Amino acid sequence: MRAALITQLGEPPAAAEQSKPAVLTDHVVVDVLAAPITPLDLLCATGTSYFGSPATPYVPGVQGIGTVGGRAVWFPTTAGMTAGNGSMAEKALVRQEDLVFLPDDVPPVEMAALGLSAVAAHMALTWRGELKPGETVIVLGCGAVGQSAIQLARAAGAGRVVAAARSEKGRERAARAGADTVISLEPSEFVGIEADLLLDPLFGAPAAAAAQTLRPGGRWVNLGGSADETCPITSSTLRSRSLRLSGYTNNELTAHQRAEAISTVAHLAARGALAVDHEVVRLAEVTNAWRRQAEGATRGRIVLVP
Ligand SMILES: NC(=O)c1ccc[n+]([C@@H]2O[C@H](COP(=O)([O-])OP(=O)(O)OC[C@H]3O[C@@H](n4cnc5c(N)ncnc54)[C@H](OP(=O)(O)O)[C@@H]3O)[C@@H](O)[C@H]2O)c1
Repeated sequence: MRAALITQLGEPPAAAEQSKPAVLTDHVVVDVLAAPITPLDLLCATGTSYFGSPATPYVPGVQGIGTVGGRAVWFPTTAGMTAGNGSMAEKALVRQEDLVFLPDDVPPVEMAALGLSAVAAHMALTWRGELKPGETVIVLGCGAVGQSAIQLARAAGAGRVVAAARSEKGRERAARAGADTVISLEPSEFVGIEADLLLDPLFGAPAAAAAQTLRPGGRWVNLGGSADETCPITSSTLRSRSLRLSGYTNNELTAHQRAEAISTVAHLAARGALAVDHEVVRLAEVTNAWRRQAEGATRGRIVLVP
């Protein structure tokens, strides 16, 4: 079968012929329809993630959409985090209990583009962030997480959604995703905004500026460090308004929580109420696609199709 193969950490994968996965107890072989290239895939393949350095060669791809016995499924893998191969191949070996069966009318490529980015947005808003109807949410960045968060905040009953992104393209995406107010990441742009919940995949200076908008008791959920690994926040900002700063990772979800979140995302995607910008690229072109995704030189999430 054809697969993307990482042979050297820090270098993009190349398309290669691989033997099909051998069937294991409690596992199934999924016929892959679509696999996104996500920041987690890119990070793990550098060998510098907090999961450690994966053994090479390996097939990357921490999630995908495929079929099992003719039925559509979403599936996760631990490629790049622990030993084993991932979704960027014609077939993938998946633990039976991790499969999530999807409604028949879910578009596979669109669902692959959403995947765990949308799960993170949904769970960070509703579970960790405890979003209540009518509240104001401020969303930083407008990649896959940001676009999902804008739409999911609305679906969860947010009263107002403010989106902040550094690029003109990001701000256009935020407006299309339905944000009520769209601003840049300049600190002056946050002045006058009052928010209850900050959904933060960026950290760094943008998050420090956005935290100033939080009302007393406001919640700040960090789920990534796309802008910076550190953040210049002052103690007085946190304690003067009793702010709650929490971290979020999809890896803390139980399989049941993750499956429920995937189902929520899938049902919204099936009725056209949730989507993120994406590009479709053939698996054979993975090397260039991987480079472009790492450089941010794409029209959104790249989804590989075999
Ligand atoms: N905790 C979790 O479970 C979880 C799950 C999924 C993702 N994440 C993390 O969340 C972050 C976003 O993921 P994603 O899927 O949305 O990624 P993505 O689709 O690649 O989007 C990244 C976004 O970050 C913005 N960005 C990148 N560098 C920036 C900088 N220096 N300053 C300001 N904005 C910057 C980009 O803005 P422009 O488009 O304007 O360039 C882009 O919109 C990543 O760090 C990812 O690892 C965490």
